[in-house]
Amino acid sequence: MNQHEAVIVAYGRSGVTKAYKGGLAKVHPVSFATETLKGVLARVPQLDPKEIDDVIVGCANPEGTQGWNMARLITQLAGLPKEVSAQTVNRFCSSGMQTIATAANAIIANQCDVVVAGGVESMTRIKNMFLEEEFRDPALVKSYNEAYMAPGYTAERVAQKCGITRQEMDEFAVRSHALAAAAQDVGAFDDQIIPIHGVGPDGADVLVDKDEGVRRGTSLEGLASLKPCFEGIVTAGTSSQMSDGAAFVVLMSREKAETLGIAPIARFVGFAVAGCESEYMGLGPIYAVPKVFRRTGITLDQIDTIELNEAFAAQAIPCIRTLGFDLNKVNPEGGAIALGHPLGATGAVLTCKALSRLRRQEGRYALITMCIGGGQGAAGIFERL
Ligand SMILES: CC(C)(COP(=O)(O)OP(=O)(O)OC[C@H]1O[C@@H](n2cnc3c(N)ncnc32)[C@H](O)[C@@H]1OP(=O)(O)O)[C@@H](O)C(=O)NCCC(=O)NCCS
Repeated sequence: MNQHEAVIVAYGRSGVTKAYKGGLAKVHPVSFATETLKGVLARVPQLDPKEIDDVIVGCANPEGTQGWNMARLITQLAGLPKEVSAQTVNRFCSSGMQTIATAANAIIANQCDVVVAGGVESMTRIKNMFLEEEFRDPALVKSYNEAYMAPGYTAERVAQKCGITRQEMDEFAVRSHALAAAAQDVGAFDDQIIPIHGVGPDGADVLVDKDEGVRRGTSLEGLASLKPCFEGIVTAGTSSQMSDGAAFVVLMSREKAETLGIAPIARFVGFAVAGCESEYMGLGPIYAVPKVFRRTGITLDQIDTIELNEAFAAQAIPCIRTLGFDLNKVNPEGGAIALGHPLGATGAVLTCKALSRLRRQEGRYALITMCIGGGQGAAGIFERL
């Protein structure tokens, strides 16, 4: 069979806003995802929407406000032709990257020519960061209750297992905020962010055009004064922030891009997922990254930039150490501790960050990796073209 290459021809994301109190908290996620999607599609005017074969949207909590196959609702609100199909995908924190991999695979397998993939999350609309006891399977509760462990508590387990100290975590968080602030100051995120409508605290319309989470002047002293959130040493300052946001990329076969006269931005190289113990879910990248290297033949020394989702400093630090990452290449424009982690959108947000940086640094390969609630890791590689 003729093998196709999947290339990314456009990317874009919303600003990542604070859950409950930020600019997107009062906006329905279908609406803010739709506006983001339309902004991304506007970047490829050569593409007739009729030619989109599928729209794949990641969401880590596709229930309630985010329920009812949100992907389909987004295509409808965006005014895409009714023939454009849509699916919602949940692989928790890697959903927004899983969708990109699924889209690329469909293109490589010649099932599709053009697919839009990404993710959305309104953490404002998520009731709990755990599954209520009434919904748990009693047999699994008995045999392996850790399967249901909330992420914050797994971060404590990882910190204990890997001997990560409060001081190390606080230092990591200071770094994340400082790098994110510096990146904002030089406009590093400007080409990624699609300005969209939000609602201010007074109910007035506001323009959401930047990431809201960055706390300038975050200091070791300030962080040291915070109380632990999960009966241990992990605090609000060393956890990823609860956020709202959306991000999308447009993928197509390389032939299709050539036919449409669109210059491809990057090539999808590969993606891998791997499972691990639920109670140590933060260590997921340690299993997924070697797998993606094995499967693609790419080696760590070939990687120019890395986006490692900072679910918690407690897990990011041991992942970086165990995987032998050069810290200078990891989240050099800050991570989720400063910029937020809108669960289902994060994989696509990190893809936007990595592709934008590869272009600015004229690098070749980017690695994107994250841990996944419930005990998994994911890793993907892109090559700038
Ligand atoms: C940890 C957690 C419970 C904290 O929630 P929260 O208390 O609402 O957190 P906030 O960001 O509002 O911070 C609370 C306070 O801590 C302090 N704080 C937070 N970050 C700080 C920093 N960098 N410097 C100084 N103070 C800080 C502030 O006083 C802040 O209050 P303020 O915003 O009114 O100033 C929540 O962020 C969380 O659950 N994160 C993890 C989400 C998750 O599990 N994701 C999935 C991963 S797999």
